[in-house]
Amino acid sequence: MRDRGVLIAIEGLDGSGKTTHARILNENLRRYGYNSEYTKEPSIGKIGSFIQSMILYGNIMTEPTVEALLFAADRVDHIKSFVEPSLRQGRIIISDRYVYSSLAYQGARGVDLKWLRNINEFAPKADISFYIDVPPEVALSRKRGTKSVFERLDFQTRVRNIYLEFARAKELHLISGNNPLNRVQEELLSSVENFLR
Ligand SMILES: Nc1ncnc2c1ncn2[C@@H]1O[C@H](COP(=O)(O)OP(=O)(O)OP(=O)(O)O)[C@@H](O)[C@H]1O
Ligand SMILES: [Mg+2]
Repeated sequence: MRDRGVLIAIEGLDGSGKTTHARILNENLRRYGYNSEYTKEPSIGKIGSFIQSMILYGNIMTEPTVEALLFAADRVDHIKSFVEPSLRQGRIIISDRYVYSSLAYQGARGVDLKWLRNINEFAPKADISFYIDVPPEVALSRKRGTKSVFERLDFQTRVRNIYLEFARAKELHLISGNNPLNRVQEELLSSVENFLR
């Protein structure tokens, strides 16, 4: 294990399989003896919980820039309280959503991408950022339960287009999430193992 740890981000639309795959990847890495840990954004901290209850499921529509600043504030919290200390201990951190979620989601609400990058500049760059690509229709049809404010077909289509741009620019490592679960996981795991070697 390297002494600085490794940060892996898992990105994708709502229902694309991020949580499922981040958790299985974490279990697989631990089974191979790595000191890895699952985490997510919005975080479980105070600002993250506020975002979860008020923005995502509370129907409080704010200016998209306010939304972007709230997600960035939660990210500071998450990084200071959990991500950085864990990386200093040499662990592998798997983050279910990270900076590219802000770029894609608030970008899809019309916020300038350059400004979004600027307000997230404090965030350590992930060593690998995966984007699990699934057509919005498929992703949304997998979701059960109450929908968040972002779970609409037209909006998810815009989010996907931004993610795809970053994948084309090689900022994101695209994995097709349309394949069976075990195939998707194999691809993720082999990319991570290549990186760790
Ligand atoms: N490759 C796949 N094939 C079929 N079903 C899948 C696949 N990947 C995930 N699923 C299923 O899709 C559903 C949604 O997956 P998951 O909750 O992991 O998505 P998510 O990206 O974390 O969503 P959210 O953004 O809302 O948190 C789950 O029931 C999961 O088992
Ligand atoms: Mg999830």
